[in-house]
Amino acid sequence: MHTAAGVEACLPIRSDMDLVWVRQHVRQAAARLGFGLVDQTKLVTAASELARNTLVHGGGGQMAAQHVSSRGSQGLRLAFSDEGPGIADLELALSDGYTSGGGLGMGLSGARRLVHDFEIDSAPGSGTTVRVTCWVVRPPRPREGV
Ligand SMILES: Nc1ncnc2c1ncn2[C@@H]1O[C@H](COP(=O)(O)OP(=O)(O)OP(=O)(O)O)[C@@H](O)[C@H]1O
Ligand SMILES: [Mg+2]
Repeated sequence: MHTAAGVEACLPIRSDMDLVWVRQHVRQAAARLGFGLVDQTKLVTAASELARNTLVHGGGGQMAAQHVSSRGSQGLRLAFSDEGPGIADLELALSDGYTSGGGLGMGLSGARRLVHDFEIDSAPGSGTTVRVTCWVVRPPRPREGV
């Protein structure tokens, strides 16, 4: 398990301008934690897609950013949440190219590939929370029973 150093920041996602702040915040937080340029860009790209989904599909919400550490590795954990309609079929929503609107349907599936850990909590009528974590250096998986 990793330890969390508390919620560092909570940003609203209510407008296109908020998406700019989200990208900027994630870029700066990742740089501060020691992510290289390529990894910063991966995380910013994932965050941008997830924040856009929060705004467009979820009707707005927020992003909470948290610094986490595990076995000497530093990570950034981001949680995007909304109280929108939720996602009825998660498997379908996560498949490449699926969109319920006029998008490319690559946001969720693409974001999942860009991060180390990806979790969605969603149900029709109860909103959506997507949590992602990226590690500066990925910690080894703990062995069974250790
Ligand atoms: N926060 C959310 N609330 C409700 N539905 C969502 C949410 N995020 C994603 N979805 C659903 O999952 C589908 C797939 O999302 P994804 O981001 O992959 O594609 P998209 O947003 O339609 O297009 P784009 O490629 O432009 O992002 C969406 O079309 C939408 O139906
Ligand atoms: Mg999208």
